[in-house]
Amino acid sequence: MNETHVLEKPPEGANADWTIPQNWASYTAAEHAVWDTLFARQVKMLPGRASNAFLRGLDMLRLSRPGIPDFKELSARLMEATGWQVVAVPGLVPDDVFFDHLANRRFVAGNFIRRADQLDYLQEPDVFHDVFGHVPMLADPVFADYMAAYGRGGLRALEHGSLEKLARLYWYTVEFGLVQEAEGLRIYGAGIVSSRGESLFALDDPSPNRIGFDLKRVMRTGYRIDDYQQNYFVIPSFEELLRVTIETDFAPLYAQLETLPDIAIAEIVPQDRVITRGTQAYAGRRGAA
Ligand code: PHE
Ligand code: FE
Repeated sequence: MNETHVLEKPPEGANADWTIPQNWASYTAAEHAVWDTLFARQVKMLPGRASNAFLRGLDMLRLSRPGIPDFKELSARLMEATGWQVVAVPGLVPDDVFFDHLANRRFVAGNFIRRADQLDYLQEPDVFHDVFGHVPMLADPVFADYMAAYGRGGLRALEHGSLEKLARLYWYTVEFGLVQEAEGLRIYGAGIVSSRGESLFALDDPSPNRIGFDLKRVMRTGYRIDDYQQNYFVIPSFEELLRVTIETDFAPLYAQLETLPDIAIAEIVPQDRVITRGTQAYAGRRGAA
């Protein structure tokens, strides 16, 4: 889901750029069935919840056969739409490797799938999260450009030692973003759309804050990786997200952020454009359980 790494160099059998073969032929019938169950379940609940761009992009995943997508077939279609590909990697890869792939329009995905008794929750991203969650948005030309720009920005952030700040932008857009559409608030973040529970929680629950997106504000806000979010940030459109991130030179922003304290996770600050002030009644429930 994010880009924290575990290994120092590519493991046995991986290429120099950390990619590995997906080995589509070795998935079992039970593994394909897990994909089909999750796919049917999410597709049914997402109309009226997911952004129009995501719903349009879902067609990208309707391949010539059911089950876990074959990255070769998927990449050929995605390449035609927006120039992106999906490549398999063994779990989490180093930050510079991750950013270099993104900058070159290659989305790195795990090739394993969760077990049938883990449909609702999993800590590490599996192929359902990576492909169902991320690929539909990569089929959108504007979001596709944003992701590649993020990869280039990541390589710069590494040089500035500001990765933690930039990672918050990824978290609150690519993984857990909301967008304001004419019909209402919609989800587009991969961590939400690939989760049944959070697809409901992010839009309907009174607990979390929903706050208008502001680049600097987001980069001052930490996040939790072990439960539903306590804040969601709402962009006005993907065009606007792309515009503000591309037109802003992050180098002076990183320097300024060094001098500013972080904002506590659930805190609302006076400059916030608050869409929903959350009760935070849910916060920590899973942690406490
Ligand atoms: N404009 C950013 C920079 O100067 C790069 C970037 C673009 C980062 C899009 C994130 C998303 O580093
Ligand atoms: Fe992810």
